[in-house]
Amino acid sequence: MADGQLFARKSVAHVQAEFNQGELKRTLGPLNLVSLGVGCIIGAGIFVITGTAAANFAGPALVFSFIVAGLACAFAALCYAELASTMPVPGSAYTYAYVTLGEVFAWTMGWLLLLEYGVAASTVAAGWTGYASSLLADFGINIPEALRSSTMQYVDGALQTTSHVNLVGVVGILAVTALLVVGVHESAQVNNVIVVIKVAVLLAFIAVGALYINPENWAPFVPPHEGGDKYGIPGILRAASLVFFAYVGFEAVSTAAGEARNPQRDIPFGILGALAIVTVLYIITTLVLTGVVPFRELAVPEPIALAVDRMNMPWATIPWPFAGADSINIFSLLIKFGAFTGLSSVMLVLCYAQTRIFYQMAKDGLVLRLFSHINPTFRTPAAGTILLGVIIAFGAAVLPLSVLGDLVSLGTALAFAIVCISVIYLRQNNPDLARPFKVPFYPLTPILGVVFCVLFMMGPIVLDIVGKGIGVDLIGSLFGAPAEDFKRDPVSLYILGGYILVGILIYAFYGYKNSKISHPAPSVTPAE
Ligand code: ALA
Repeated sequence: MADGQLFARKSVAHVQAEFNQGELKRTLGPLNLVSLGVGCIIGAGIFVITGTAAANFAGPALVFSFIVAGLACAFAALCYAELASTMPVPGSAYTYAYVTLGEVFAWTMGWLLLLEYGVAASTVAAGWTGYASSLLADFGINIPEALRSSTMQYVDGALQTTSHVNLVGVVGILAVTALLVVGVHESAQVNNVIVVIKVAVLLAFIAVGALYINPENWAPFVPPHEGGDKYGIPGILRAASLVFFAYVGFEAVSTAAGEARNPQRDIPFGILGALAIVTVLYIITTLVLTGVVPFRELAVPEPIALAVDRMNMPWATIPWPFAGADSINIFSLLIKFGAFTGLSSVMLVLCYAQTRIFYQMAKDGLVLRLFSHINPTFRTPAAGTILLGVIIAFGAAVLPLSVLGDLVSLGTALAFAIVCISVIYLRQNNPDLARPFKVPFYPLTPILGVVFCVLFMMGPIVLDIVGKGIGVDLIGSLFGAPAEDFKRDPVSLYILGGYILVGILIYAFYGYKNSKISHPAPSVTPAE
């Protein structure tokens, strides 16, 4: 069999022709796109993961973790913006890899994007469950733990099966799936409202919280290293790999290219605008959070709500008829509500992005055709959306947030690195292509993107091996701590390896045979 097929590439002209024949409705303008990005980015990362990251790893120095992770994302975002302006198609990074590195990389990228979006949606659903259940409890509705926690859970450091199922998360995912089936325009309207609520909640938290900061909580700002990845520089880097998750989603904007009114101009604007807004918000929110609550107490599922509870606010206390309470802090209730709706919008955009990537992959024959079937009534890929919704809901029901989140960060960092390499490839091999947006400081930006993203995945391992090769304790001399203190739990790396292997098998037995690029139909308009 043909062997060039693994590296068969789509031409840029082909991709641009696909763009011109788009059958999706073009309804999204620049503000919709920034909103789509912010809607996807601000979520479980800031509302949930920040707490554990500060308490267990970085302390107030979590701000530095956010800066490191934000930098890695900024390099990747610039690369995404260049590729999205050159090839504005719904498939995003998957299509970029198809044009640059070839079919097998495109498949791998599509498969990694299922981690980035689909599994991220499951992760957010797990975080959403915490706020949803707490909000319901305020109204006297107590969901039993067995129905709001995942089947697999860490018991004494080992992953074990329990009789629990996170049904609350399942309901959340199925609700956004229903919205997406009805239509993206309607979804974008809902999303815009939710984004405003979510940003308003964070701004209110910052404005009010600033009055309750106790600077003693910041001393020392970088807690001394306590061994392992607890605090100090190892802790900052470990926390950076966790809060990397908080930035995931800016590139979801590029998957909306098929539905954007002026994608060449507006997609880069959407990506970079959204990333800039959330970076500033994250840094300030983290400062307030660790300024209000001593960091060691932040390891809870709703750290922002905890911080609000710690603020002494007699003016916000109102009588409350539910849950056997006499009174409630209305500000705390509003924050929980904002987080709840905010996380809902993240699930919506992540699920949206996932359906659009599979839509493009199905059009290329690499996954089942079902995913590209457009429902004539709603003009959305309804059947594929429902199937993906069920798979994502299953992930939320069964796996704990920490495992899901780690997998997303790893898979995403790998996908970002491939995107940065694609920019370099295309500049070298297709220098005259019209690029409405170009990364500044080429080739430094994409190279730094690869370096930062690879460091996230296996930086300590790489430094350790290089160090041993040249006979120098590189990690020890750079960071003043032994290499072991920087190593992440290898379990997620193994799972990632297994996941990629399964993907390659599916490609070998399905995509390889059905690829439309490598096996074009004889007629000009092939019958489905
Ligand atoms: N960045 C998104 C979140 O934090 C995925 O939930």
